[in-house]
Amino acid sequence: MKYTSTLLFLIVFSVITLFSDLLMAQTAGNEKQPRILIAYYSLSGNTKKIAQTIQRTIGGDLFEIKTAQSYPTEYRVLVTQAKKEINDGYLPTLKNAVTQIDQYDIVFIGSPNWWGTITPAVSSFLKQANLKGKTVIPFITHGGGGIQNTIQDFTKQCTGCLIDQGSFSSYEGDTIGLTDFLEKLKQIN
Ligand SMILES: Cc1cc2nc3c(=O)[nH]c(=O)nc-3n(C[C@H](O)[C@H](O)[C@H](O)COP(=O)(O)O)c2cc1C
Repeated sequence: MKYTSTLLFLIVFSVITLFSDLLMAQTAGNEKQPRILIAYYSLSGNTKKIAQTIQRTIGGDLFEIKTAQSYPTEYRVLVTQAKKEINDGYLPTLKNAVTQIDQYDIVFIGSPNWWGTITPAVSSFLKQANLKGKTVIPFITHGGGGIQNTIQDFTKQCTGCLIDQGSFSSYEGDTIGLTDFLEKLKQIN
C-alpha cells in the first residue's frame, strides 16, 4: 500500500513538473521583444557613429533624419545659419519620414548639440513623428559643452513621449560609457 501511494505520488509529481516546464517554455517563447528604432541627425558623422554603435549592441532599425536642403559646407556660414534657424524656431523640411512608426516600442533619437540645443532637423522630426506614448531615449553628441539645454528642449518638444529612462551624451562621438548605459536600459525594459 505504501509502495503504491509513493509510486502514485511520483507519477503525479512528474506530470505536474512536465506541464509546468512546458508552460514556462511556451511563455518564454511568447515573450514579445520590444521593437527598437534608432533615429538620428548627423552632419559630420559623430552622432551617426553613436547610433550605429547602439544598433550593433542592442539591435533595431536605423533611421537617418535628413533635411531637404543641405547645410553650407563652410563652417562659419554653417554656424551663423544654424544660430539664426534656432533663434527663429525654424523647422526645416525633412527629406524622409519613418514608415510605420507605430510598430516601434522604443525610439532612440540622436542629435548633435547646436548652440546649446538640439538641431532644427531633430526639432522637425519631433514635430512630425507621432511619438505619443512611446518610450523615447535621447542621445546627444557635443563639442565640449556637454548637454547644455539639449535634453531639456528635447523633452519639451517631444510631446507625449515617455522620457524617463535617462539619456546618453558623448563628446564628439566618443562611445565611452555607452555599453554601460545600454546595459542598464536592458535591466529596466
Ligand atoms: C552649428 C554648430 C553649432 C554647435 N554648437 C555647439 C555647442 O553649442 N556646444 C557644443 O558643445 N558643441 C557644439 N557644436 C559641436 C557639435 O555638437 C559636435 O561636433 C557634434 O558631435 C557634431 O555631431 P555630428 O558629427 O553628428 O554632426 C556645434 C557644431 C555645429 C556645426
